[in-house]
Amino acid sequence: MAFSAVLGCVLASLATSVSAGVKYPDCSSGALRTNLVCNTSAPPEARASALVAAMGNSDKLANLVNNAPGFPRLGLSAYQWWNEALHGIAINRGITWGGQFSAATQFPQAITTGATFDDDLIFQIGTVIGTEARAFANAGRAHLDFWTPNVNPFRDPRWGRGHETPGEDVLLTKRWAAAFVKGMQGPGPTHRVIATCKHYAAYDLENSGSTTRFNFNARVSLQELVEYYLPPFQQCARDSKVGSIMCAYNAVNGVPACADPYLIDTILRKHWNWTDDNQYVVSDCDAVYYLGNANGGHRFKSSYNAAIGASLQAGCDNMCWATSGTQPNAASAFSAGAFNQATLDKAMLQSGIVLLHNPSNYLPLSPNSTTSLAMIGFWANAADKMLGGYSGTPPFKHDPVTAARSMGFTVNYATGPLTQSSSSTSAAVTAAERSNTIIFFGGIDNTVEKESQDRSNIAWPAGQVSLLQRLSQLGKPMIVVRMGTHVDDTPILALPNVKAILWAGYPGQDGGTAVMNIITGAVSPAGRLPVTVYPSSFTSQAPFTNMALRPSGTYPGRTYRWYKDAVFPFGHGLHYTNFSAVVGRGFPGSLDIQWLVGGCKATYLDLCPLPLMKVTVLNTGERKSDYVALGFLSGEFGPAPHPIKTLAAYQRVFRVAPGETREVEMAWNFGNLARVDEKGNTVLYPGTYTLVLDQPAIANFTFTLTGTETVLDEWPQPR
Ligand SMILES: *[C@@H]1O[C@H](CO)[C@@H](O)[C@H](O)[C@H]1NC(C)=O
Ligand SMILES: *[C@@H]1O[C@H](CO)[C@@H](O)[C@H](O)[C@H]1NC(C)=O
Ligand SMILES: *[C@@H]1O[C@H](CO)[C@@H](O)[C@H](O)[C@H]1NC(C)=O
Ligand SMILES: *[C@@H]1O[C@H](CO)[C@@H](O)[C@H](O)[C@H]1NC(C)=O
Ligand SMILES: *[C@@H]1O[C@H](CO)[C@@H](O)[C@H](O)[C@H]1NC(C)=O
Repeated sequence: MAFSAVLGCVLASLATSVSAGVKYPDCSSGALRTNLVCNTSAPPEARASALVAAMGNSDKLANLVNNAPGFPRLGLSAYQWWNEALHGIAINRGITWGGQFSAATQFPQAITTGATFDDDLIFQIGTVIGTEARAFANAGRAHLDFWTPNVNPFRDPRWGRGHETPGEDVLLTKRWAAAFVKGMQGPGPTHRVIATCKHYAAYDLENSGSTTRFNFNARVSLQELVEYYLPPFQQCARDSKVGSIMCAYNAVNGVPACADPYLIDTILRKHWNWTDDNQYVVSDCDAVYYLGNANGGHRFKSSYNAAIGASLQAGCDNMCWATSGTQPNAASAFSAGAFNQATLDKAMLQSGIVLLHNPSNYLPLSPNSTTSLAMIGFWANAADKMLGGYSGTPPFKHDPVTAARSMGFTVNYATGPLTQSSSSTSAAVTAAERSNTIIFFGGIDNTVEKESQDRSNIAWPAGQVSLLQRLSQLGKPMIVVRMGTHVDDTPILALPNVKAILWAGYPGQDGGTAVMNIITGAVSPAGRLPVTVYPSSFTSQAPFTNMALRPSGTYPGRTYRWYKDAVFPFGHGLHYTNFSAVVGRGFPGSLDIQWLVGGCKATYLDLCPLPLMKVTVLNTGERKSDYVALGFLSGEFGPAPHPIKTLAAYQRVFRVAPGETREVEMAWNFGNLARVDEKGNTVLYPGTYTLVLDQPAIANFTFTLTGTETVLDEWPQPR
């Protein structure tokens, strides 16, 4: 029963009812005063059950929607389940902004924090968001459920919501989700707020021709479902014990996800032991509507009522309806509120920017008194654009032009086109002519890639390319800073005077400062691409609707595991220095599978720890820098075809000084070595394994697993 989730949360963690607005429940005067619900010595679960027991069927039914009316007779106020906080508390219907609550920290979007490969940072971000969310709730300005994070692996570069996710890799997404959920809900058994992992499952298409998220039937092999599309949800449900999971609009192999007892009951509830009454499944908004007989939907049922029945029976606990209960947006003018986390935020903002290209070490810029910057492009002075989708009001916004001026640079600013539409280039050319260095702020923004809007191509916007070509003719050094997710950088790499390319994703409220700190070398870049940058021809070779990851015939396959012709590969990212490394010191050259399994005490065999993998890194250059140790596994074990490589372990190493050697130990487990067979079983195979460090490789270590293959997780078969 979904409603007990919020009660369990509140009763467990809060001694008294919150100060204003929302009552959960009111124990001071309501009819519950003498009920077990209000006995603060009783266990929270018992109190929540008592409350549910006090509700009649009509009360319960009325409360199965996101804008729940509550239970006024017993002092339980209306409850809006729909609150968003993807990268900071968002402007969204469950949240009332204003007064002291006019601002909340707006972190970089997930795609940018994904590029940090830094679990501790993600945990801190989740903690700040959860703490601010709880403060909004305590003031009666928000509810306790937040439909965050988005953990669908970023399968296709056209997807409009890819930037809401930490990227295309399963291990990165799992670890990012674990850290974020732990931070947001709080590390202990009681929750400060409830996080929601979405969208379960195989959701990563908004619209492609007449196929939309409301009617798309994602056909996924069992092997790739278990190996790629489900692991982030397994992490959330089984291992992180997230409070809630949102089921997706799309169907998976013929059954809409919100009406699929196989996905919701057999796998999520039973196989992943996500059985606590306080854990609930919520439908994506209007997903239940579109699985019935609605125009444009799945037409899986002949009526709306039948759709509702199918969804509830499958195990969906709460239905979000976007078509009713709309509350006006309450965006209010900026005023520094109680939630100014600027200091913390600043420290966090600078680690997800990726240096893609810097062939002559032009960056970092060494400014002098005659340096003047032409800052050109659609987001050079547009701080709003840096936030990305599902945003709220930040306590401040620093765009790149403002940041450069505050650093003392002479800046000549001109805007530039966002999309293909032709626009005058004369202001940009004049600004460039007056300057000795050009910084171009290009790429795409979240009006181009956004919820309900996929792209049909992934080329750099043509208007920007022609402006860059024109500027390049001036013969001045150019730095290109790209926002948004995928565009094919090939035409930019071909321009003679482009000295460096940085990828900033959606860098958040202080993104302008972060970018300028990297350009001037105040901060060294160490982010890594959490996605493959594909050539623009990819979209004609890989139909958007084809969910397969493995290549076949002319189909090139997807993600760095299978795709060979990347413009920039997953994991790519340059530094202002160089590193050398040794990997595998002290690790056994051979391990016996039966010995490993016999010695493991974990409940789930895939979580059994392996001996730590040591990496010794040496900074061979002249600048202090962070270093992300990426450990990829390759080898011809398990079912063919074999992936090129899979990320098996990673660890961010902080502030390595020039000439300094640092040893780190990467934690990993049986699951990181395993492969998934065609029946969806996760299996540890004997064979020769090579752990390759970094992209491109700078070291490797080879070891063997002996013994007989062993199933770590036997997968329940569909009917
Ligand atoms: C409240 O709960 C505690 C613990 O379960 C119990 O010992 C106590 O009797 C209860 N108080 C009342 C008034 O029911
Ligand atoms: C299933 O979850 C419950 C509650 O979280 C826990 O007590 C139990 O040990 C779990 N069972 C397994 C097999 O992990
Ligand atoms: C100062 O910097 C500009 C470009 O930023 C460069 O053209 C010029 O040569 C530099 N002057 C000195 C004295 O280094
Ligand atoms: C890193 O090493 C390469 C190869 O020796 C060299 O070309 C490059 O300039 C170095 N980069 C830095 C930032 O020192
Ligand atoms: C491992 O490194 C050795 C040299 O250090 C190299 O010859 C070999 O190709 C590398 N293997 C892989 C799989 O990268």
